[in-house]
Amino acid sequence: MSDAVLRSSQGRIGILTINNPPVNALAAAVRDGIKAGIEAMGADPAIEAIVLIGGGRTFIAGADIREFGKPPSGANLNDVIATIENCPKIVVAALHGTPLGGGLETALGAHYRVSLKSTRVGLPEVHLGLLPGAGGTQRLPRLAGAKYALDAMISGRHIPAPEAQSKGIIDALVDGASQEELLKGAIAHAEMLVAQKAPRVRVQDRKVTLESPDLFETTKKDIARRARGFKAPWSIIECVRAAAEAKSFDEGIKRERELFVELLTSSESAAQRHYFFAEREAAKVKDVPAETKQGEIKSAGIIGAGTMGGGIAMNFANAGIPVTILEAEQAALDRGLKTIRTNYENTAKRGGMKAEDVEKRMALITPTLSYDGLKDCDVVIEAVFETMEVKEAVFKKLDAVAKPGAILATNTSGLDVNQIASYTKRPQDVIGMHFFSPANVMKLLENVRGKATSKETIATVMSLSKRIGKIPVLVGVCEGFVGNRMLRMRGIQAAYMLEEGALPQQIDKVVFDYGFPMGPFAMSDLAGNDVGWRIRQGKKEKEKRNVRYTGYIADAICELGRFGQKTGAGYYKYNLPDRTPVPDPEVEKIIEETSKKLGITRRAFTDQEILERCFYPMVNEGAKILEEGMAQRALDIDVIWVNGYGWPVYRGGPMWWADNVVGLKTIHDALLKYRDLTGDPFWEPAALLKRLVAEGKKFASV
Ligand code: 3HC
Ligand code: NAI
Repeated sequence: MSDAVLRSSQGRIGILTINNPPVNALAAAVRDGIKAGIEAMGADPAIEAIVLIGGGRTFIAGADIREFGKPPSGANLNDVIATIENCPKIVVAALHGTPLGGGLETALGAHYRVSLKSTRVGLPEVHLGLLPGAGGTQRLPRLAGAKYALDAMISGRHIPAPEAQSKGIIDALVDGASQEELLKGAIAHAEMLVAQKAPRVRVQDRKVTLESPDLFETTKKDIARRARGFKAPWSIIECVRAAAEAKSFDEGIKRERELFVELLTSSESAAQRHYFFAEREAAKVKDVPAETKQGEIKSAGIIGAGTMGGGIAMNFANAGIPVTILEAEQAALDRGLKTIRTNYENTAKRGGMKAEDVEKRMALITPTLSYDGLKDCDVVIEAVFETMEVKEAVFKKLDAVAKPGAILATNTSGLDVNQIASYTKRPQDVIGMHFFSPANVMKLLENVRGKATSKETIATVMSLSKRIGKIPVLVGVCEGFVGNRMLRMRGIQAAYMLEEGALPQQIDKVVFDYGFPMGPFAMSDLAGNDVGWRIRQGKKEKEKRNVRYTGYIADAICELGRFGQKTGAGYYKYNLPDRTPVPDPEVEKIIEETSKKLGITRRAFTDQEILERCFYPMVNEGAKILEEGMAQRALDIDVIWVNGYGWPVYRGGPMWWADNVVGLKTIHDALLKYRDLTGDPFWEPAALLKRLVAEGKKFASV
C-alpha cells in the first residue's frame, strides 16, 4: 500500500487523508489509494461513515496535469468516484484550500460536502483546453442548475465557499481556519449524519434544473466573442445539454467522456497545458536559486506620472504597498493623479471595486516634486521621457538620494539598461522593469537583467512582480528586449507586403483569424501611428541604403494626419465613437501610389503567404534571442507573447507553435525559400534554428 492516501479512524468514523504534496493532485497512486481505502472502509463493520480530506494546504486541486498525454495507469477517476458514490457507508468530503477540477468532481461523488469558509472550489479545466471529465459536467448542473453550472465551467472561476453553499454545492461550513479544525468539524458532521440515520445522497439521482429552453443557444451567443478559437467552452455547453436532455446519467457521462477525449487529444489543449507550466516555470531564474536572499519591499517610488507611471503606481496601491510619485512639475503631477483617480472611479462605477476602496487606494499614493520624497523607498521605478539624457539626469539624482540597497528600476522600452546603470554607483541594484501599456491592466512584466544586476535584485523583483499581480519573465539587454524585438519582424514584413500588393484589411484578417485580438494595422491605429513616425524621423532610416525602408506607406498616412483611432482615421477610417475599423478607399489609393513610386508591380497574396511572412520571421528572431541567451528558455518567449501581445493561448505561443504545430524544418525551409526569392538577408535562418533542424530537435530542448 502506498502512502499517497493515509487511513486512520476516530471512533466509528474512518478517515482517508490524501498525501500528495504540494496540491494533492490526483496521480495514479492517489486514485488507487482512494478507491482501495473506500472499498476497505466500506466493508469494515467497525466503520459507520468515512471522511475524505486533503493533508497539507488543500483538498485535491485536480487531476495530475503532468499525466495527460501519457499512457494511462492506475484506477480510472470515474471508477474511483463511482466507488465513493456507491459506498454503503456515508462519505463526507472535507474541503479546504482549492478543491478544483477532478478534486471537486471527487467531492461531488461524496454523499455530503463540508468546508472551511476560506475554501474556493471550481471546475477550471477550461483554462487547460479541457472540460470537467470526471462527471463534473453532469453533477454540477444537478446541484446548482444548468445556468449556474455553465457559467462556472465556462469561466473556470474559483467560487468562494459561502457562494458554493448557497448554490447547494457545499452542504455545511465548518468553524475555524485550519485543516485540523476542518477535520474535527467533518468528523462531528459525519457523526451527526450517522446519528440521524441520514440517507446517502447520490448527486446523480437528482434532476437537472433547466432555467430556460433556449439557455444553450443564448449561452453560445453570449460567449461568441470571448470563446473565439477555443474548443472547450463549446464542448462544455454540449455536455450540459446532455445532462439536461439525456435519458440517463450514464448516457450523459458517456457524452462527457467522448468530448473530453476529443479535447484531451487536441492541439489546443496541449498548447494550454504547455502554457500552464510555462507561466510557472518562467518565474524561476536558472542561476538564482529559490533560497536567494530577497530585499523586503514595504514602499515604492515612481518617477514620472505619465501614461506608464500612473498605471505602475496603481499596481502598487492595488497590492496595498504605499507609493510615492515624483514629477518634474506640479501641473504634470496633478494631471497624473487625476488620471489615476478617474481610472479607479470608473472601475468602481462598473462594479469592479467598492466606492470606499477608491479613497483607500488613493490614500496610499503620495505625490511629490522633491527627490527627498524617495529617500526611504525600497524600490524606485523610473518612467520619464524615453531619451538617454533625461534618464541620465534622473538616475544621477536618484543615486544621490536613494537609501543603500534600494532597487532602482527603469521602465525604458528601448534604451540600454547597462548604460542607465552606469549613471549610478550601484549598478548591481539597477534593473529594467518593462511594463506594458496600460500598465495597471496588462499582466506581462519583462524584467531586464543588466550585466551587473545582482541575483538578490533579480530575486526581489521577480517575487515583487507576482505580489503586484504581474506575470514576470526575465530577459536580457537587447534592442526591444524580447517582445518588441520579435514584434518588429512582423511589422517589417507587414509593411513590405502592403507595398507588394496586400491591403491592411487582408493582413489584419489573417492575423485576427489566427486568434490575435487584432492585426498589426488595426493595432497601430489603436496605439497611434504618429509614435513610430516621430521615431523614424529621428532615425533617418531612409538614408541607410543597405536596409529596405519600412516607412513609405506609414509616413504617407501620417503626413495626412491619419494618426489612427484618435484622429478618426489611420490605416482605416472610424466612425467615432464606434471603434470598428472600416477599410478606406483613400488608403488603398495611397498604397497603390506608393507601390508605383517604388516601381513595384502589385500582385495577389494568399493568406498562407501572409501568415508565413508575419510569423516565421518572429520565430526566427526568437531563435536568435535564445541563442544569445536573451531569454532563458523558449517557454519564456511564449509567456511574453501570450500575455503581452495577445498570442492566442490555444496556440501555445510562437515557439511552442513552431515546435509542435508547424515544425522547425518547415519554418527553416520557408525562410530559405523567401531568402532565395528576395535575396534579402533578413530571411537567413538563425544558427540555432539550422542546428536544431539538422539534429531533429525542438526549441524546447534548448
Ligand atoms: N497537476 C500537476 N501539478 C500541479 C497541478 C496539477 N493539477 N496543480 C498545481 N501543480 C503544481 C504546479 O505546477 C507547481 O509546481 P512547481 O512548484 O514545480 O512549479 C505546484 O504544483 C504549485 O502550484 P502553484 O505554483 O500554481 O501554486 P499556487 O498555490 O499558486 O496555486 C492552485 C495552487 C490554485 C491549485 C494552482 O496550482 C492551480 O490552479 N492548479 C491547477 C488546477 C486545475 O486546473 N485543476 C484541474 C486539472 S484538470 C482535471 O482535473 C481534469 C478532470 O476534470 C478529469
Ligand atoms: P509620458 O510622456 O506619458 O510620461 C512621462 C512623464 O515623465 C511625464 O509626465 C513627464 O512630465 C515626466 N517627466 C519627464 N521628465 C521628468 C523628470 N526629469 N523628472 C520627473 N518626471 C519627468 O511617457 P510614457 O508613455 O509614460 O513613457 C514613460 C517611459 O515608459 C518611457 O521610457 C517609455 O519608453 C516607457 N514605456 C512606455 C510604454 C507606452 O506604451 N507608453 C510601454 C512601455 C514602456
